[in-house]
Amino acid sequence: MALIHLESLTKTYAPNTQAQVEALRGICLDISEGEFCAIVGTSGSGKSTLLHILGCLDVPTSGRYYLDSQEVSTLNERKRARIRNQYIGIVLQEFGLLPQRTVIENVALPLYFDQSAHLSYSQRKQRVQEVLTQVGLESKLNTLVSQLSGGQKQRVAIARAIINHPKLLLADEPTGALDQKTAGEIMELFSALSHTGVTILLVTHDKNIAQQCRRVLHIEDGLLADAGQP
Ligand SMILES: Nc1ncnc2c1ncn2[C@@H]1O[C@H](COP(=O)(O)OP(=O)(O)O)[C@@H](O)[C@H]1O
Ligand SMILES: [Mg+2]
Repeated sequence: MALIHLESLTKTYAPNTQAQVEALRGICLDISEGEFCAIVGTSGSGKSTLLHILGCLDVPTSGRYYLDSQEVSTLNERKRARIRNQYIGIVLQEFGLLPQRTVIENVALPLYFDQSAHLSYSQRKQRVQEVLTQVGLESKLNTLVSQLSGGQKQRVAIARAIINHPKLLLADEPTGALDQKTAGEIMELFSALSHTGVTILLVTHDKNIAQQCRRVLHIEDGLLADAGQP
C-alpha cells in the first residue's frame, strides 16, 4: 500500500446545522513514499482541511485514511499525537513559531515530545545543528525568531518539522507569506529535502509554485480532479 491511501474521505463542518459546510466531498488518493507532490486549488477549495486531516490534526467525517498501512482516521487524539510524532512533520500557515524564543529553542521543541528518543542534551544539540545546517541557518542558532526575515522563519519552521526524521512532510501554503525570490528559495529547499527520501506534500493556491513539484493534483470544491498517476 502507498504511504498515504485515502478512500472516499469527507469532512463536513457543523453537520446537520444551517451552517453546514461540506469541505471535502469524497477524496480518493494514493501517495507513494518519496513523492514530492502539490495540491493546488483556489481559496476555500478544502486544501487546509485536507492537510489537517493528513497531518492527524483533525479527523474526517467519513471515509478512510491509511498512513503507512495503518488506519488513522478513527484514532483518538492521544493516538493521533503519537502518529504525528512518529511519522509527520507539519509546516502550518504563518509559521507557528515562538517569536520570543531562539532558533535553537524553537527547532528543538519536538524532541521533548518524542518519548521514544531519550536523547541527551548534547545529542539534542547535535541534531538541532544538523537540521539547521540542512535548511541553511547554522549561523542563526541563538537568534530570536522575531529578528528573522520571513524566509528565515519559514526555514526554522521546516527545520522544526523535520527534526524527528518524519516519513511525511506536510506544508500549508509554505510560500504564501513570502516574496517571489524567497518563495523560490524555499521551494528549492523542499526539492533538496525530497532527495533525502522524505515524502513531501504541500498545498498552495499558486500554480507556479505547484509546478515546481514532481506531481500536481487539483482540488476544487472539496474534490480532486484528475488524480493523475505519479
Ligand atoms: N473550522 C471550520 N468550521 C467551519 N467551516 C470551515 C472551517 N474550516 C474551514 N471551513 C470551510 O471549509 C471550506 C474549506 O476551507 P479550507 O480547507 O480552509 O480551504 P482552503 O485552505 O483551500 O482555503 C471553506 O468553505 C471554509 O469556509
Ligand atoms: Mg488554507
